[in-house]
Amino acid sequence: MHFLKDRGFVHPRSAEITPPAVYRGRRQLLQGLAAGAAGWLAAGPAAAQALPVARPGKLAPLPGGRSSVGGAYVTDKPTSYSDITHYNNYYEFGTDKSDPAQNAGTLRTRPWTVAVEGAVKKPGTYDIDALLKLAPMEERIYRLRCVEAWSMVVPWVGYSLAELIRRVEPTGNAKFVQFVTLADPRQMPGIASRVLDWPYVEGLRMDEAMHPLTLLTFGLYGEVLPNQDGAPVRVIVPWKYGFKSGKSIVKIRFVEQQPKTSWNTELPDEYGFYSNVNPHVDHPRWSQATERRIGEDGLFAKRRPTLMFNGYEPQVGQLYAGMDLRKYY
Ligand code: MTE
Repeated sequence: MHFLKDRGFVHPRSAEITPPAVYRGRRQLLQGLAAGAAGWLAAGPAAAQALPVARPGKLAPLPGGRSSVGGAYVTDKPTSYSDITHYNNYYEFGTDKSDPAQNAGTLRTRPWTVAVEGAVKKPGTYDIDALLKLAPMEERIYRLRCVEAWSMVVPWVGYSLAELIRRVEPTGNAKFVQFVTLADPRQMPGIASRVLDWPYVEGLRMDEAMHPLTLLTFGLYGEVLPNQDGAPVRVIVPWKYGFKSGKSIVKIRFVEQQPKTSWNTELPDEYGFYSNVNPHVDHPRWSQATERRIGEDGLFAKRRPTLMFNGYEPQVGQLYAGMDLRKYY
């Protein structure tokens, strides 16, 4: 694999991206789709057949029952625990994919608090162990599509972010949510390199944050998150490029104006606020039409066609009705 490296993500050379005309990819359909968009909140029979994933037995177990949120499962085989935990983007621990697994051991995940502030009636600071118990944990197998045109399938454990949002009672001024992540140079060697303006910040529109698919995530493969995957808590927004999913969150802020986000601040022409997965809107430097599935790297491995909203269009498409997705990329 050859990579070009410049400002912005480390990304595949365009020559490695198969032109759309070449592939004949199997179309992947979301489970429960047959029930129709209106019925998606009910778990379909397909969801009930979702395989329980085996725990790797490396970290503390995190019990999580099967999710009742329709569309929370995909049929694709989950990526191996080893790939999910050794092929990471977590620039606070270095910019190479192998750096986070090597360097994130210095991250201290206890004590840990998450401050909730801004336009809410009940601001406060949650201890991570209280946050873990706020709502029942669920397992959700989601596709994760990185803007660099690779993807994984991850059995996350967590609960809908909406569970927390409802409890803090946002006011009418809460139009957006900003996520602020840890930036501690003593624990994070990558902070010394000025590759981004730390802390890493991300944001969502209020309706995106409230959407049941948006997961406040504490674990994967039935165990607590390994540090390199964003311990002790991160957000997963499965229909958006992976960089919208901030790791190791310390603050959640409810605001009136669209908040600053790290990659949009760094390279606004390349990374928009919305960053919905969209095979029809290419990154200025590479195509988004197809993706490489991590773990399928053999000589004859086919690139997969990228799905609109990463395959979650039936669930989230209406959030963007009438919006020009080229303008709001
Ligand atoms: N969060 C923080 N704090 N720092 C980062 O560098 N990288 C993002 C996102 N969250 C990042 C982050 C990117 S680009 C991606 S693709 C996903 O995390 C990767 O998550 P994973 O390593 O668990 O697959």
